[in-house]
Amino acid sequence: MVEEHKIKQLLDKREEAKLGGGQKRIDAQHKKGKLTARERIDLLLDEGSFEEFDMFVSHRCKDFGMDNEKYLSDGVITGYGTIDGRLVYVYAQDFTVFGGSLSEMFAKKICKVMDHAMKMGAPVIGINDSGGARIQEGVQSLAGYAEIFQRNIMASGVIPQLSAIFGPCAGGAVYSPALTDFIIMSKTCSYMFVTGPKVVQTVTGEVVTDDQLGGAMVHSSKSGVSHFEAENEEEGILLLRKLLSYLPQNNLEDPPYIPCTDPIDRLDDILNNIIPDSPTKPYNVKDVIHAITDNNEFLEVARHYAPNIVTGFARFDGRSVGIVANQPNYLAGVLDINASRKAARFVRFCDAFNIPILTLVDVPGFMPGTTQEYGGIIIHGAKLLYAYGEATVPKVTIILRKAYGGAYDVMSSKHLRGDINYAWPTAEIAVMGAKGAIEVLYNKKLNDIVDPAVREELLRNYEEDYINKFANPYDAASYGFIDDIIIPRTTRFRVIRAFQALATKKDSNPPKKHGNIPL
Ligand code: HXC
Repeated sequence: MVEEHKIKQLLDKREEAKLGGGQKRIDAQHKKGKLTARERIDLLLDEGSFEEFDMFVSHRCKDFGMDNEKYLSDGVITGYGTIDGRLVYVYAQDFTVFGGSLSEMFAKKICKVMDHAMKMGAPVIGINDSGGARIQEGVQSLAGYAEIFQRNIMASGVIPQLSAIFGPCAGGAVYSPALTDFIIMSKTCSYMFVTGPKVVQTVTGEVVTDDQLGGAMVHSSKSGVSHFEAENEEEGILLLRKLLSYLPQNNLEDPPYIPCTDPIDRLDDILNNIIPDSPTKPYNVKDVIHAITDNNEFLEVARHYAPNIVTGFARFDGRSVGIVANQPNYLAGVLDINASRKAARFVRFCDAFNIPILTLVDVPGFMPGTTQEYGGIIIHGAKLLYAYGEATVPKVTIILRKAYGGAYDVMSSKHLRGDINYAWPTAEIAVMGAKGAIEVLYNKKLNDIVDPAVREELLRNYEEDYINKFANPYDAASYGFIDDIIIPRTTRFRVIRAFQALATKKDSNPPKKHGNIPL
């Protein structure tokens, strides 16, 4: 029989652990508008589902008077629970204990949940709020980080890894979230940088604030490091739950099926009229996406970064699908360095986790110019090509309007093992637009004509001929590169039927250690 005082001792210790670095520091955390690590976990997981590990761990450091300052849990809360009834592993750094700084034991706790997650085949969610390496522990702390990095790398492509940044995340500490699949930052309290404003000023003379250097908006729009920026922590946590609903538990499972009440044969008339008469006029490809997905829902990934390409998750007949779509509303939907990187990473994530890919194409080509060439558009564009070409998940492609040049090939064309390739009647598939093509083909001939009226007339004729031949999907369809030309309002039904047919798809790549994607 357990004696009463032993139960009390246990309960007291638990209470002590729950106080982290003490009430004063908890109050300070709240005063900054931040939740504590435990409050974050409570919000994230299904009510009452959290099972904690290692509550009684504390650090083993003896230097700098650390012997006299110990806190149960040692600055990170770890364990497992459920989200919508599905098992997940979590850790949340506790800023009230030594500023959430990472010690040897802190790292061991994180490694333990990561090891469990790998064995059980369940996602890991890390909530970051930390002053980085625990200074008093020196190399032990650096070693701890590297142990986590190694696990992040081994888990990559095996279990989904999600990171929330709800406080500081600086120095080498940024590399664990960077190795995970998705990063969510809150506008209210997050920042990430390799070196902080003070070092920046010392080294480069540049004066910047935390927010200007590494706030949520900076990483969502300029660097592309963060995939979601939430208004606050609560919204960020809801986003984590929602994101997970589109993902499988691991690379051997399919994403969850969510029964769908939206009719699969729902027609949408706006699609028949969405493509403007003028080929240079923009429209919003997200209107197309919303019109065809289950309940018109779409969870956009990296909304503010490279908006010339849209990436995100939706469902078709209850099944999770990753969507990649050129966005004519921004830079005419051109493929540039950032768009290529963004889409390539998304395609590879979907492929790693058995999420079929729908590609909506309206692309004038790759972005020209020295900025792009000097920045390596050749390498970065190749990433997207590589990602589509190696992907073995079901791939359905619809060319809505333009599919010009190399961009036609890249955007999940038939030639990159696209499974079902459709086009709308408005599709234009060619090496380049009419004007550019005529210039290349007939420049000399046209220049030889002295009379401008005759020259204009001939130019018009050439352009008309070219448009008649290529500004339609029929030439490509005549070679079987397009499987069918579909009426836009029927797109939802055709996409669902295509993915239904592809549900049993089996394809593979040659055995190899790993490919050498252009990095
Ligand atoms: C030990 C730390 C700490 C750290 C903060 N604290 N960071 N203790 N190691 N790295 C402690 C503080 O002493 C303080 O203790 C408490 O946490 C809260 O810190 P404050 O400074 O009072 O909070 P705030 O004003 O909000 O500032 C937060 C901060 C700042 C910006 C994170 O604390 C800071 O600059 N810390 C140092 C950051 C840093 O340089 N880390 C090393 C980065 S290099 P008390 O007792 O007063 O509550 C790195 C390498 C990783 O991480 C390499 C991996 C490969």
